[in-house]
Amino acid sequence: MDKSRKRILVTGGAGFIGSNFILYWLKKYPNDKIINLDSLTYAGNLENLRLIERNLNYSFVKGNICDLDIVEKSMQGVDTVVHFAAESHVDRSIKKPSDFILTNVVGTQILLDAALRNDVKRFHHISTDEVYGSLELRDTNKFNERTNYNPRSPYSASKAGSDHLVKAYYETYGLPITISNCSNNFGPYQFPEKMIPLAITNVIEDKKVPVYGDGLYVRDWLYVEDHCRAIDLILQKGKVGETYCIGGLTDDINNLTVARKILKILGKDENMLEFVKDRPGHDRKYAIDWSKIKSELGWGPLHSFDEWLEKTVEWYRNNERWWKRLKTKEFQKYYEELYGDLD
Ligand code: NAD
Ligand code: DAU
Repeated sequence: MDKSRKRILVTGGAGFIGSNFILYWLKKYPNDKIINLDSLTYAGNLENLRLIERNLNYSFVKGNICDLDIVEKSMQGVDTVVHFAAESHVDRSIKKPSDFILTNVVGTQILLDAALRNDVKRFHHISTDEVYGSLELRDTNKFNERTNYNPRSPYSASKAGSDHLVKAYYETYGLPITISNCSNNFGPYQFPEKMIPLAITNVIEDKKVPVYGDGLYVRDWLYVEDHCRAIDLILQKGKVGETYCIGGLTDDINNLTVARKILKILGKDENMLEFVKDRPGHDRKYAIDWSKIKSELGWGPLHSFDEWLEKTVEWYRNNERWWKRLKTKEFQKYYEELYGDLD
């Protein structure tokens, strides 16, 4: 086998970031092989990968990362694992934490064991800035690789658990791992339960945009392709055993401002905003200091929030068929339970 060609197992490749990553990777490295292991939960969608589904260097395995046999088979001959698969939505973790523990904690441990047995050369774990907890609005500090863990939702606690396991497999067994903790992504193919795609698709459907609490919660938005570039650099040049924090270009932008920008792009007024009851344990602010990955690997975000929010809105406008099929009866049930009878 040609050693310069990677054989990559991507878990969760039918989700938002995983599918963007596969499209990015096969465009840039067309000779590498990608195996996408995904159980296709409500958030997994093979339509995201339509552009490469016939590519001979791409294959799909429908399976759960908690299934030992499927994981073992999928791992054979693999030199690199990029682990995205997770239950990823905070609100769902508040309603039903158990799915998050199974996939995010147990599933990660099963993958780590299989990676060890199969002598994988790099296990890259995709994690989140939410493991660091919450900053105060007035805080000028940002999260970095040395920030103590302080997860506050079942989702972030399960991701923190998975990060600790990944580090433990490095320290205890010498598994060659890297970890990245990234801030909020936005862009094409994001399931319309998350704030930005929910707001965009609701406005297009002439429905209200739900804003939690006072709307003054701050997220550090990153265009998804910048995240993919960061993972690429970590795989190529990152140091084994290290963590890299990845963040965007936004400067303390709150949810109300994001929602207003979306309304403006779509030519709608503020009557479309609806303040709804707050998320329990809602983290006030995330902000990432990405100076380590900048100085060590030369990475920085290239996509500005305003320009790429507009392009993202345009993408949802042009791909109504894609997202309308996701707003199913099951989604409506979830939506009504969470938001009540919002028009
Ligand atoms: P997503 O919910 O869009 O996709 C998750 C994918 O994982 C889906 O395709 C789903 O079918 C699959 N999956 C879930 N459980 C599985 C299981 N048991 N076995 C196999 N596949 C399973 O998530 P996303 O937003 O693309 O996030 C991907 C990763 O990035 C997650 O690990 C998340 O914690 C992390 N992350 C996300 C963000 C963000 O803003 N979305 C930011 C930082 C980190
Ligand atoms: O920070 C990284 C994390 O970003 C990832 O690890 C998670 O997987 C991802 O879901 C995201 O978590 P958030 O909870 O920050 O994203 P969400 O899009 O759900 O919410 C963004 C902000 O908007 C948050 O302050 C809650 C608020 N919000 C969200 C929804 C869905 C609203 O005001 N109204 C809404 O309807």
